[in-house]
Amino acid sequence: MCIRVGALLLIPPLFVFIMNPFSEKSASKPDIHVRFYEEKDAEAVRALFVSGVMHGEDCAFEVGQRYLMREHIVLPAYALLGLGLAAMLPKESPVCFVGQKTLSAVLCATAIAWVGFWRWRLALNFQAYCDHSLSSDLADIPQYYAALKSKDTGDDDGGASGFWVAEAVSSDGAKHVVGCVGLDSRTQKDKSRCELRRMYVSDDFRRRGIAGKLINTLIAHARERGVGIIVLSTTTYQELARMMYQRLGWVEVGQIPRLVWFMRSLQLHMLERAI
Ligand SMILES: CC(C)(COP(=O)(O)OP(=O)(O)OC[C@H]1O[C@@H](n2cnc3c(N)ncnc32)[C@H](O)[C@@H]1OP(=O)(O)O)[C@@H](O)C(=O)NCCC(=O)NCCS
Repeated sequence: MCIRVGALLLIPPLFVFIMNPFSEKSASKPDIHVRFYEEKDAEAVRALFVSGVMHGEDCAFEVGQRYLMREHIVLPAYALLGLGLAAMLPKESPVCFVGQKTLSAVLCATAIAWVGFWRWRLALNFQAYCDHSLSSDLADIPQYYAALKSKDTGDDDGGASGFWVAEAVSSDGAKHVVGCVGLDSRTQKDKSRCELRRMYVSDDFRRRGIAGKLINTLIAHARERGVGIIVLSTTTYQELARMMYQRLGWVEVGQIPRLVWFMRSLQLHMLERAI
């Protein structure tokens, strides 16, 4: 009996192992190498971006929802919930008790709906940001970042811009894009400055130094092209990324407050690093 239960318990991890050769449970860790972006990476990069903003572990939207619960606009929900719970307290008259139950239910439901409404508003803002990004530089990465041009011809027509992906190669030779980063010279008037953008690493591959590898590649490329300062901007809700940039030598040089009118906590943080 025990053996049968044990065998049944083993099925789910085995299934995960078989279906995902890159799983943490995999004994052989995949090799990671960084290369220039190629046309075939388009979908993988777009998926990494959407996951990093909207759906992934510790993504900006998830962190934003935690901050939302401390925002002033959510305070009425706490008040309604408190009143709703207070109205549940039993009173002597049975008629009054029936009325109180209804009142309590209405107050609690209104509190939940209030929070739900602001979560929905926040989701709309994040979705709009994703849509805008996917239809701007991420719509045509080679054209915007001149990534293919730099790779194929080695010329500098695209300035110092470039786009890289981190690829995981498993022991059976399967390759997957698990990280990306872009260097954008178009956003800066001064040619000695470039912007780091679109830094994303897949959830399953975090804390393995992939972002570090991508950044080293980007910095080497920028140095070769005479860039002296790498700027970037990130938001309050990209907590891990901010920690990482500061650990890697970026310093905060400014903030833009209130990116979304109902989120007082949300700021754009501008960082710079001399290379
Ligand atoms: C931020 C992100 C790119 C880091 O990628 P990563 O491959 O896990 O980072 P690395 O393993 O190269 O870590 C580099 C350093 O960052 C810091 N860091 C990264 N993740 C961290 C975490 N969860 N907790 C604490 N420090 C962390 C550490 O200092 C780490 O160095 P160490 O491992 O030697 O201590 C990744 O978490 C991610 O994609 N996040 C979501 C998307 C995002 O916010 N992108 C930034 C847009 S501006």
